[in-house]
Amino acid sequence: MWKFPKPIRHTIPTTRWPSAQTAAKSVLFQPLKIGSLNVENRTWVPAMVPWRATEDGFVTQANLDWYRRFAMGRPGVLVVEATGVRDIPSGPLLRIGHDRFIPGLRQLVNTVREASSGKTRVFIQIIDFLAVKRRPEKDKYFERFLKIKQRHRELLAESTGDLIWRYAAEETVREFLRSAPETVVEEVLDKRELEALRFGYRESVTDLHLPHVQELPRVLPAIFADAAGRAREAGFDGVELHYAHAYTMAGFLSALNNRKDGYGGVREHRVRLPLEVYQAVREHVGDDYVVGVRFLGDEVIEGGSRLDDAIYFGVEFARAGFDFLSISKGGKFEDAQQPKVGQAVYPYTGQSGYECMPTVLSDETGPFGRSVPLVAAIKRAVNIAGFQTPVVVTGGLTTFEQAEQILQNG
Ligand SMILES: Cc1cc2nc3c(=O)[nH]c(=O)nc-3n(C[C@H](O)[C@H](O)[C@H](O)COP(=O)(O)O)c2cc1C
Repeated sequence: MWKFPKPIRHTIPTTRWPSAQTAAKSVLFQPLKIGSLNVENRTWVPAMVPWRATEDGFVTQANLDWYRRFAMGRPGVLVVEATGVRDIPSGPLLRIGHDRFIPGLRQLVNTVREASSGKTRVFIQIIDFLAVKRRPEKDKYFERFLKIKQRHRELLAESTGDLIWRYAAEETVREFLRSAPETVVEEVLDKRELEALRFGYRESVTDLHLPHVQELPRVLPAIFADAAGRAREAGFDGVELHYAHAYTMAGFLSALNNRKDGYGGVREHRVRLPLEVYQAVREHVGDDYVVGVRFLGDEVIEGGSRLDDAIYFGVEFARAGFDFLSISKGGKFEDAQQPKVGQAVYPYTGQSGYECMPTVLSDETGPFGRSVPLVAAIKRAVNIAGFQTPVVVTGGLTTFEQAEQILQNG
C-alpha cells in the first residue's frame, strides 16, 4: 500500500448524534429533489463493493445483510455497489447484464425499503470494465504469453551485438529471454509487455488493435441502456453510471486516452462516448427516472485528467441532463503497486488509491474532507453555467458538524 513519506496519524474526531431540534434546523437533514425524485435528506452512502455476490454475480444473503445495516440508518440515498453491465463472469461482483439477475436485485431493493421504512432512496451503480489478468510467473510469461515478433529479434541482436538473433527460432528467443538479465529484458520488451510481465496483462481503451476495444463506442450505449432498464424493472429509484476510477468509461475521460477515432484526444472527444452512453440510457429509461454519474475530480496520476478537465466534464454532464454528479478522486491502475505473482493489480494501492479512499495515516491536510475544495470548484462551475444539478462529495466525512459546515459553505 502506498504511504506518504512521513505519514502523520490523525485522530477521528469524536462526535454525537445531533438532537432532533439541531437536525431539523440543519441543511444536511433538509429534503432535496434529485431529478423528479424527492429525497428525505442529504446523507448519502456511496457505492461500495463488499465482494459478497456469488461467483455468478447473484445477490446473496450476505449482500442483503450488508445493505440492510446501512438502510437501518435511513440515509437519504444509498447507492448499491458497482454492478457489471455485461453478461460475463466477474467474480463475486453483482451483475445486471441479463434479466435473470432482476429477481435478486428486486429483493435487495425491497430489503432497503423495509429496513429504512421507505425513507431511503436506492440507486445502483452500473459499471463496465476491461480485462485484467493476474501477474504471471516469469517462466510462464516467456514460455506462453509473450507474442514473439520480429521486433524482439532485432532488439536482441542489438542488445547482444549478435546479428544471428535476427533469424532465431521463436523457441530460442523465448528460452533466452526466460533467463536473460533484467537489463536485456528491459531493452527488448516494450512498455506494455514489461507491464504485462511485472503487473499482469491489462487491457486499455486505447488498445485499438483489439476489435472488442475498438468497437466499445458502438456497443456500450446499448449495453448500459439495457442494464439501466433492468435496474428500473428491479425497482431501483435510479442508476449511477460509473465513469470513475480504473474502469472503461473513466478510461475514455482520461487525459491518457489518445484514441484516434474521435473518442480520444481533446476533452470534447473524450467526453463523447460518456455522453452517448447517457443519451442511450436516458432514451431507454425515460425522463422521469433518475440517472446520475460518478466521475473523477482528479485522476491523481502523471499525465492524467486534472480539475480543469473535471470542471469541463461536470458542466457538460449537467448540460446533458444528468440528475446528479457524484465526484470521486484517483483509484487508478497506472500508479498501483506491483501485485504478488498470481494476484491481480489493484487500483487502490498507489497514491491515487490513497486519494480515493483516504485513511488516518496522512499528510498535514489529513484525510477529512480532503476532496471538498475540488468538489466545490466543480459545483461552482456547474452553478455558474446555469445548472442546479446536485453534487455529491465523499472522502473522510465523519461527523455531522463537518458535513453541515460543508453544506452551509455551499
Ligand atoms: C470497500 C470499498 C468499496 C468501494 N467500492 C466502490 C464502488 O463500487 N464504486 C465507487 O464508485 N466507489 C467505491 N468505493 C469508494 C467509496 O464510494 C468512497 O468514495 C470512498 O471510500 C471515500 O469515502 P470514505 O472516506 O467515506 O470511505 C469503495 C470504497 C470502499 C472502502
